[in-house]
Amino acid sequence: MKRVAILISGGGSNMLALVRDMAGDHPARPVLVASNDPAAGGLAKAAALGVPTTALDHRAYPDREAFEADLARQIDAARPDIICLAGFMRILTPGFIRRYEGRMLNIHPSLLPKYPGLHTHARALAAGDSEAGCTVHEVTADLDAGPILGQARLPVLPGDTEDSLAARILTMEHQLYPAVLRRFAAGDRTPVLLP
Ligand code: GAR
Repeated sequence: MKRVAILISGGGSNMLALVRDMAGDHPARPVLVASNDPAAGGLAKAAALGVPTTALDHRAYPDREAFEADLARQIDAARPDIICLAGFMRILTPGFIRRYEGRMLNIHPSLLPKYPGLHTHARALAAGDSEAGCTVHEVTADLDAGPILGQARLPVLPGDTEDSLAARILTMEHQLYPAVLRRFAAGDRTPVLLP
């Protein structure tokens, strides 16, 4: 059984989708949910499902390295095989990424390689794209540019706003990320393509 640590910063809806899927014949189980924000709504939701949680307020550290050193200590104490970033909104240093190379995944709300970084939905709308979506990829030192492990696409509708598009994509994220984690935890890196 693979052990999975999940890093969040906010509501944690992707984290919940992952945790709920890790049952029965799933090849992995959640061992830790960690947040850089003690107020992240996802922490209580994880705890309610019986998953150990930890919060490290990044603002309390003198620099990124000090924050990451503490985060790595807490992650390593849970002995995870796989780290899932799920709405984790801190940039990670190359040193931290190297430590978990090949076993750290991220979900990003765009059809990468389009729109790495922030404001993905607004950028897709501004570009007049006819489709949008989300991507799960391996985390490498290049921001949002690691090998793609899955992608879900959907049409942009007339009248779509940033919020309406984000909401539809989030629903797809909740299907894509668990499907990718299942496959990845079983040792299969073939990309999951939805629908
Ligand atoms: C999700 O849409 C995720 O793709 C995005 O943040 C949201 C978190 O929602 N992640 C990024 O933008 C990463 N750069 P959640 O906390 O409900 O899972």
